[in-house]
Amino acid sequence: MSAPLPPAGSTPAPAPAPAPAPFGAARIFAIGRAGIEMALDLRQAQVPGFSYVALDSTGSGIDTSAFDATLLVGSRLTRGFGAGGDPELARTAAEEEAPAIRTLCQSHPLVFLIAGLGGGSGTGIAPVVARIARETGASVFAFVTTPFECEGSRRQQQALVGLHRLKTVADGVLCLPNEKLALITDDQATLLDAFQAGRQHIRDAILCIWSLLTRPGLLSVNFADVCSVLRGPNLECAFAQVRTSGPDRAEIALQQLLAHPLLTHNDLVRRAESLLVSFSAGSNLGMGEIRRVMEQFSRKSDGARAVVGASIDPAAGESLQLAVMVSARQMVLHDAPEEAPPERIPSPLHPSSPRTQDLGPARTSRRLAAPPPELTPQVADQFFAQSQPRARAKKKPQQVPLPFELLAKGRFEKCEPTVRRGHNLDQPTYLRRGITLN
Ligand code: GTP
Repeated sequence: MSAPLPPAGSTPAPAPAPAPAPFGAARIFAIGRAGIEMALDLRQAQVPGFSYVALDSTGSGIDTSAFDATLLVGSRLTRGFGAGGDPELARTAAEEEAPAIRTLCQSHPLVFLIAGLGGGSGTGIAPVVARIARETGASVFAFVTTPFECEGSRRQQQALVGLHRLKTVADGVLCLPNEKLALITDDQATLLDAFQAGRQHIRDAILCIWSLLTRPGLLSVNFADVCSVLRGPNLECAFAQVRTSGPDRAEIALQQLLAHPLLTHNDLVRRAESLLVSFSAGSNLGMGEIRRVMEQFSRKSDGARAVVGASIDPAAGESLQLAVMVSARQMVLHDAPEEAPPERIPSPLHPSSPRTQDLGPARTSRRLAAPPPELTPQVADQFFAQSQPRARAKKKPQQVPLPFELLAKGRFEKCEPTVRRGHNLDQPTYLRRGITLN
């Protein structure tokens, strides 16, 4: 409802108080060992309004004093000895703890989940927490890592399944593949340095989204804008942030971001479908700075949907903080029939050439399917050049009779035949009538 206008000549009414932010406080769920480590790092930022919960399938190693609440997931199922790298076990354990998780989510409209995917706890528990938090009405953003390639394909596969589950249930997911940590650290970096860089990255991303959602900006970004970049089961998202100062701070920040390894990797900016650029600076933030940066990003991303946010930070001094979130389509993870070889039984028609038949209940597995390759004119020419000679050499198909005959009735062997007017109706019509199929 709009406020009544003051009578002419009266002293202007004081500016209305800013509308209350839709999110009062955020609850951080640190899940699994990596999630807990990353949350401890975030805690050092001392953001007012954040409360921290640690969830793990092993009780050992949680510094309970650093968290507002802790939950041992699987006290019955794993007796607190951990999920041992088994996400399904951790997932079942989390489902058993659903009432406790629900209580931890209640009265928290904004939930951030942090986990390292690939092991048991983070991968299995995080999607369950995301689902329950959504059920309580919370908005849920997940910040996760996927394993280094050297950790093996099983962990990698587990991480991708967990990531897919999270993406289908959370409002937004930002994933940092640990493999990319090599891109943002130097050659001499130790594993600890790499993990430290990863934690800092996750912390920056959370704080950026938090301030976009809660601080009123000159150009404000809302929940739907953030979701438009981070939500989607088939999206690959990346985040990068830089801070610069000096007269050319916008140009320097722009160059740093356009060369940022997390954004240039996989040509992400060029392939982008959505882009969110956030400016944070003192009251000297220039209109021209915003325009020049946005022009460049629009040009590089070739028509991606762009959202811009700008807020004044009185503590920024002369510096400019520029953050970018970008998303593009990625490799698709979907359910597919199990590819393990089915059980073989001999065919009743051709016992010598066994046919395959899946006797068990339908099982599913997950596999990765790459998106179709881009069809450039060169690729098309190459394809037709290769396929035409083969098409010409193809022989005309020949029609031959199929050697079908009934040798055995399989499991109907002991049943009474269905005979009507002297004809055995259990026999296929073509056999009864002596028709040759071709
Ligand atoms: P279980 O121990 O099997 O119950 O699972 P968990 O989720 O507790 O596993 P954990 O968090 O130890 O590891 C999961 C994945 O997170 C690992 O495969 C690593 O790739 C990654 N990871 C572990 N610690 C860190 C960390 O400090 N930083 C980052 N970026 N990744 C980590």
